[in-house]
Amino acid sequence: MSQPPDVYAICAASDIEKGDAKAFSLSRVAEDGETRPFPIVVVRTHGDEFHGYVNVCPHNGTWLNFGDGTFFSRDRAFLQCGRHGALFEIDSGLCIQGDCRGDSLEPVAVAVIGGDLCICGVALIEDVEPDPFGDVEEETMDIMIHPD
Ligand code: FES
Repeated sequence: MSQPPDVYAICAASDIEKGDAKAFSLSRVAEDGETRPFPIVVVRTHGDEFHGYVNVCPHNGTWLNFGDGTFFSRDRAFLQCGRHGALFEIDSGLCIQGDCRGDSLEPVAVAVIGGDLCICGVALIEDVEPDPFGDVEEETMDIMIHPD
């Protein structure tokens, strides 16, 4: 008998404005059973699609919103790494310009279920912080200061 897929609600879908993105500092159970940081970013397009990615640039492993905390290129047509400026397609995560051109962000399956934005197929640790979504950008910074 197969186990049901892991589905975790991380916020209300309406918490992310259309055309915006939000970082989440989560933890997951790795294949070795250890708990690992799982920083992600979820983008909501103007067309009301949600795209999730691990918030790690394939070039140097930093978080995409390094620096000024934003995720987008100036025209907001692409995700952009704040470290060296690589550009990524929002709907595929493919890097189309920059040092990691041809590489892709690691996708995270997301779905809106009953108005909640849910992460699917990842075993998350639920009781890491009393309010894990309070100040997500600062928590992301904390994780990247202490990478495993
Ligand atoms: S770390 Fe992202 S472009 Fe260099």
